[in-house]
Formats: sequence, structure tokens, C-alpha cells
Amino acid sequence: MSTPAQDSGREINAPPEPVTPAQVNAAWGGRFARGPSEIMEKINASIGFDYRLADVDIEASMVHCRMLRAQKIISDPDAAAILGGLSQIRDEIAAGKFKFQTAHEDIHMNVEMRLKELIGPAAGRLHTARSRNDQVATDFRLWLRREIDAMIRGMTQLQAALIAQAEAHYDAILPGLTHFQSAQPVTFGHYLLAYVEMLGRDRGRLTDARRRMNECPLGAGALAGTPYAIDRGFTAAALGFDRPTENSLDAVSDRDFVVEFLAAASLLAVHLSRLAEEIIVWYSDRFRFITLSDQFTTGSSMMPQKRNPDAAELIRGKTGRVVGQVVSVLMMLKALPLAYSKDMQEDKEPVFDAVENLQLGLAAMTGMVADLKVNVAAMRAATTGSFITATDLADYLVMALKLPFRDAHEITGKLVSLAEGKQIGLADLSLAEMQPICPAITSEIYGFLTVEGSVARRTSYGGTAPDQVRAAIARAKARFL
Ligand code: ARG
Repeated sequence: MSTPAQDSGREINAPPEPVTPAQVNAAWGGRFARGPSEIMEKINASIGFDYRLADVDIEASMVHCRMLRAQKIISDPDAAAILGGLSQIRDEIAAGKFKFQTAHEDIHMNVEMRLKELIGPAAGRLHTARSRNDQVATDFRLWLRREIDAMIRGMTQLQAALIAQAEAHYDAILPGLTHFQSAQPVTFGHYLLAYVEMLGRDRGRLTDARRRMNECPLGAGALAGTPYAIDRGFTAAALGFDRPTENSLDAVSDRDFVVEFLAAASLLAVHLSRLAEEIIVWYSDRFRFITLSDQFTTGSSMMPQKRNPDAAELIRGKTGRVVGQVVSVLMMLKALPLAYSKDMQEDKEPVFDAVENLQLGLAAMTGMVADLKVNVAAMRAATTGSFITATDLADYLVMALKLPFRDAHEITGKLVSLAEGKQIGLADLSLAEMQPICPAITSEIYGFLTVEGSVARRTSYGGTAPDQVRAAIARAKARFL
């Protein structure tokens, strides 16, 4: 093959070389005197990544062929030969025996060229009333639809693991934080259910994107439709789509489904990164709220004592590439006029990368969550020494003494300051110490200052009280599992 430099040299100095058939593309080479340069072939080829579409490409081709036969656009014997050849190719690919070739550009041409080798000229009839533009739009939707289903299964498994831990520790108490400072005690089950909600919304977004993408572009042709008497309803239904796409120009140019998927995927990645961060913090020396299993930690080659939460760190780290993928596709599409342009071939790798990494992240997170051991005593111990029940004290002043909340807040602030000066907890203050600040305080106050009492009183719907958490677990199981 020649480099561009050799090409230009030859143009000036040498007569053109005779064209060998291999140099000219068999699918579109009719008007070409010679084949592409090596660089052209390289920049043009997508087979290095779109081989992943092989099985959906064959499935769509089979349905297209059956439709052409039913509509008497191709003959029964040709259709039989095509279907036989396609199923053989499917077997070759499944067995790892198929030779993907860069010279054939993409998955569509690789399949068609092999079909021609297998069945001869009848292979050329498969592409009747079809273009690679509607073909790739169809294949990609079929592929992504299936991957979304698999991802939703992965997300459901993670929800199940979170719910199982929530059930085991519905009443374990840890400090709830705001501004990363001790705020109010909460239960661990309640904490984990917050992530179950996030994943539930992520599932909803992916389900919604899937519903909108489930229209069949096949039959849009290159951009304008086709003069053949095709049956778009047949192909759409046979491929499990809800309906054929409405507008042929839009059908081949639309990649909204890619952007919608990647946007939903980005938010999922962000949610996973937040949970990963919690796990890293909880597992750190300073916290030790949890222990991760050997299966989801790694050692250090230098420091023998180490056991690092690498899986959580990688899940956190992968967020960058997933969010980057949605930006890359949006920028690729920006200002792209109708209809298909080759720019759009750049739509696939971002999706493949996001899907692969999120599936990996979901599986690793599920394993980590399922395996983690909760250090209930360390969580409970972390609630002391930070006046974490100060809000409860203010609530006592409101509920028992009928003070306005703002006054209660002021008095509580003074009591916190008093205890802080004495380096003791709120519950360690005597009545004699408290009454100068608020004479109406009685010993009833001590019942409001334990962390157990604090969480138990938070019985509002969606609150952290263990009884509420148990009810929430039951609802979460019914909604998500
Ligand atoms: N490999 C191409 C892609 O992924 C398929 C469509 C090519 N269409 C064309 N007219 N060259 O976008």
C-alpha cells in the first residue's frame, strides 16, 4: 500500500499503476479507478470497534431479507441462500472463526463480503432498499437496547445488595453529616436506602431513554426513503421495535438516543462515585466503619500492612471518562447538517466505553457492598463528643416547654457552649448547670439526648427511625426488586 507521499510522487513522475481488483472497494468502487491510500483505509475503518454490532447486524439483515422475500422484491431461492449464508456467518463469528478485515471498513461490509464469498452474486441482493445509513442506525439501537436491559439488571442487583445490608443494619447508628461535620445521628439502613433511591431514578432514566429509542430506522434508506414496496411495519415488529421511525431524514441522522443514554449513564456514574467515596471514607483508618473483604481490596507492593479499596477508587475514577463521553458525542453532533455524515461513525466508541466501564463498576460495587462488614461499635462511637443531639435538645424545649423554635435554638446554643467549655457532653450537664440558662428545664430533658432516642423519634415518612427504615425497606423491595 502507498503512503500519501508516494501517491503524490507517482502522480508527477510515474504512469498510473494498473488497478488490481483488491485495491478498489467491492461495495462502492464502481466509479473509482484505484483504491484508497493506507491512511484513508485506516481513518475510514470502524471494524476495530463496530465488530461488536455483528450479531445485531446479522439479525437485522435476516429480518430485512425476509421482508424483501415477503414483498416479492427478491426471489425465494435468493432469500433462502442469503438467510443460510447469514446464519453460517453468525456461527463463524460465535465460534471466533470469522476474519474481520479493515479493508472492508465496517461490520456491515465485512458481513456482506463474507456472504458474497459464501453464496455468490445473490448476496448482492440483500442490500436492496437499504443503505448502511439506516442499517447502522438500526443496529446501534438494537445493540444499545439490549445493553440497557443488561445494565438495568446490574443496577437491580446493586439495589438488592444495598437493601440486604440495610435490612441487616436498619438500626445501626452513625453520625449523619452536613458540610462533612457531625449533624444528626442516622441509621445505616436509612443511609444505604438513599443510594437505592438514586439507582431507582437512574433506572427510570434509562428505561425512558430505551422507550424513546425503540423505533426502527430500517427502510429510511440513505436519507430519502426507497422506491421499493417495502413493509416497514414488518421489519419494525420483527425486530421488537414499537414502530418504524416517522421521517427518513431524521431516522438516519438522529443520535439523540446515544446522547440520552450517555447523559443517564453519566448521572449513574456520578452516583456510583458518591457511594464509592463513602466506602473509601468509611473504610479509612480514621473511620473504620466498615471492613472490605479480601476479594475487593488489594495490597501494596511496598507497604506490607496495606489493604486498599482500589475497586471503589476505580469506580470513582471512571466517572471522568463516562461524563467525557457524553460531551464528546454532543460536540460531534453539534452543527451537523442533515442527513448522515461520516462524523457520526464517532458515536460508537464513547457508548461502548461507557457501557463496558459501567457494567464493570456496577458489578464491582455490588460485590463490595454485598461483602462489606459493618463495624456497628465504631459507627456508634463516632456519634459521641460532637453535640450531635443538640437539635433534639432544642426539640425538647419546643415540644415539652412550648418555646418558639428560634428561642429554643438560642438556648441550646448556650448550653452547647457551656458543655464545650467544660469539655463534657450535653447529657453530662447537671440540671443545676442548665437551669440558670433556662429555668423551666426538667430531668425529662435527658430522655432527648441519647442518639438512640434521637433516631427513634424521627418517625416522619422517609425519616431515619428504625421502624420507618423497616417500612421503607419493604416498599423498596416492592418497587425495585
Ligand atoms: N460505519 C458507518 C458508521 O458507523 C456505517 C455507515 C456508513 N455510511 C456511509 N454512507 N458511509 O457510521
